Amino acid sequence: MSPSLSQLVLYCRAGFEAECAQEIQQRANEAECFGFARTERGQGFVTFECYEPGAAQKLASAVDFHELIFARQWLVCTERFTDLPTDDRVTPLVEKAQALADALDLTNGFRYLEVEAPDTEESHSLLSFCRKFTAPLSNGLKKAELLKGDKKAPQLHVFLLNSSAGYIGYSPAGNSARDAMGIPRLKFPKQAPSRSTLKLEEAWRHFLSPAKRKAYLQPGMKAVDLGAAPGGWTWQLVNQDIRVAAIDNGPMDEALMDSGLVEHIQEDGFKYWPQKKVDWLVCDMVEKPIRVADLMAHWLLKRRCEFAIFNLKLPMKKRYEEVQRCFDRMREILDDAQEGDEAAQYQLRAKQLYHDREEITVFIHRPTPERLAQWRKGQSA
Ligand SMILES: C[S@@+](CC[C@H](N)C(=O)[O-])C[C@H]1O[C@@H](n2cnc3c(N)ncnc32)[C@H](O)[C@@H]1O
Repeated sequence: MSPSLSQLVLYCRAGFEAECAQEIQQRANEAECFGFARTERGQGFVTFECYEPGAAQKLASAVDFHELIFARQWLVCTERFTDLPTDDRVTPLVEKAQALADALDLTNGFRYLEVEAPDTEESHSLLSFCRKFTAPLSNGLKKAELLKGDKKAPQLHVFLLNSSAGYIGYSPAGNSARDAMGIPRLKFPKQAPSRSTLKLEEAWRHFLSPAKRKAYLQPGMKAVDLGAAPGGWTWQLVNQDIRVAAIDNGPMDEALMDSGLVEHIQEDGFKYWPQKKVDWLVCDMVEKPIRVADLMAHWLLKRRCEFAIFNLKLPMKKRYEEVQRCFDRMREILDDAQEGDEAAQYQLRAKQLYHDREEITVFIHRPTPERLAQWRKGQSA
């Protein structure tokens, strides 16, 4: 009997299960794929059960994964399995993968395999089991012609909760996270003044394709970093040969100041206003999220910058509601641009990145009239 694909499993930061659940519930209602979320605080994932058998596939095509803020990865799954025998886990999992491939009508198998577990304090030994188990299971799947590396095929995931229970499912090609467990492997640059530096690096990698990173992070550009000290984000900008006005009353890293590309301005980030427009505005100030959202949207509305990346530090309670309040405020301000429809366009995205803690990262691009003209020229060429 082919399995019923009625369930989504969404990985998230441990402690943010409720927000991840609220978000998928809202998206599912909008897509008219009704169902309910199950969460347990601290478990690092959420399940969403659709009422209609097989509807999880429909939900995963109706929702743009990249629009989800709190989910690191998602899988379309069958029922949870609880009974892997300790002497041979490969055979039953290959059988389950075969049933899944049949249900999906896959002629070319899956792209490749990830064996994963929740990202929690408790799962260290389970993650090491996952790593060891990947090779024997991949071999079993290859023998059964279920893994062929086809780039257009969905990726197969085994998500283990312990060594005998978990989920088997797929992440849709092109509508899921690229990295295993939705976690990018970034190396801390030794010269960077703070670990926060990885938040901006991850944000660029997450929100911009390699081609966009090249086009939007050009040597000679100008940036403002609000709440810059000691300089982890400024360091990333300087690393791209971008000039930075670093706004913070706190001290900046001396070696970074020696680069000659940084001007340290000891001023309140809410009072600072640039004389000339800059390319990038970044902001990591620890402040009420609505104040930051308001400030960022005004910089963009007044065309003081073209790109903005900033953190919204979330409160202890009603975090999802607060995110929505900030989004509503930013849209209200940006939609007010009085320059005609085209000039008023902007892209607004957000994610709780791996290096984020009790916060999310937002990216806004409001293309300049010059860039819009370039795009139009490119289209007509
Ligand atoms: C999380 S730290 C920034 C870390 C920095 N992004 C890095 O990578 O090193 C927050 C900084 O915001 C600064 N800050 C908080 N409120 C501010 C304000 N109103 N104006 C300017 N800086 C502010 C603090 O002094 C602190 O240095």
